[in-house]
Amino acid sequence: MKILAIHGSPRTTRSTTRQLTRYVLDGAEEAGAETELVDLCDLRITPCTACEGCAFNGICVYEDDMPVLVERMKEADGIIFASPVYIDNVSGQMKVFFDRLADAIHYQLLAGKYGCSVASTHTSGGDEVVAYQNHVLNYLAVVSVGGISVATGGDPLAVGSREADARALGRNLAAAITAGFSDPHQEDEIAGNRAFFKDLVMENRDFRPEEYDRWVARGWIP
Ligand SMILES: Cc1cc2nc3c(=O)[nH]c(=O)nc-3n(C[C@H](O)[C@H](O)[C@H](O)COP(=O)(O)O)c2cc1C
Repeated sequence: MKILAIHGSPRTTRSTTRQLTRYVLDGAEEAGAETELVDLCDLRITPCTACEGCAFNGICVYEDDMPVLVERMKEADGIIFASPVYIDNVSGQMKVFFDRLADAIHYQLLAGKYGCSVASTHTSGGDEVVAYQNHVLNYLAVVSVGGISVATGGDPLAVGSREADARALGRNLAAAITAGFSDPHQEDEIAGNRAFFKDLVMENRDFRPEEYDRWVARGWIP
């Protein structure tokens, strides 16, 4: 069982969000998971320019680190999104990464995985950023088991005080992967997205035949 955390603070090892994410991964490891944490700021990810090149063959015109990261996401059983709150939203690094997931979302390349979200903030927006990241997981057809956010108020000990909660979240994610987890609300949302993207997959059948066939095989196109 592999769990991949994708972390969007540019403060890397000094990051509060990263420390909180580390606790979640520690909990997952206690439950038997193999874990990996990727710092987005170590990678070269070009912002999407809406050229729609990926729509034709799934390959972005930019030859950067994003394709390898998507492959690592495909290989994982669990995915964690982790970001600091920047002006009431995810960091720019995280948003650039999200925008480059359009093809993975349209073709539901990560369907069937589980995930969760992590955020840290000084004061406000932590729960909203957790909810937003979980919403992106649902766009990817990944079911979230929840999330954790910490408002530090500038206290360097604030994150440590939530270690037990963070570890519990990691154990829950590992348990979902091994035993399954159902959330009818998220499953309805994912089914609605899939019904919407189905038209695109059918329209693009001639130049993405392997994706069309995969959708038929999975019963997503009748
Ligand atoms: C550009 C920027 C924007 C921020 N915006 C907010 C904000 O809107 N609300 C808030 O409470 N804290 C805000 N903060 C504070 C960070 O969310 C907080 O320090 C967070 O814990 C940093 O996480 P990190 O150590 O993982 O980078 C902001 C910090 C930066 C650098």
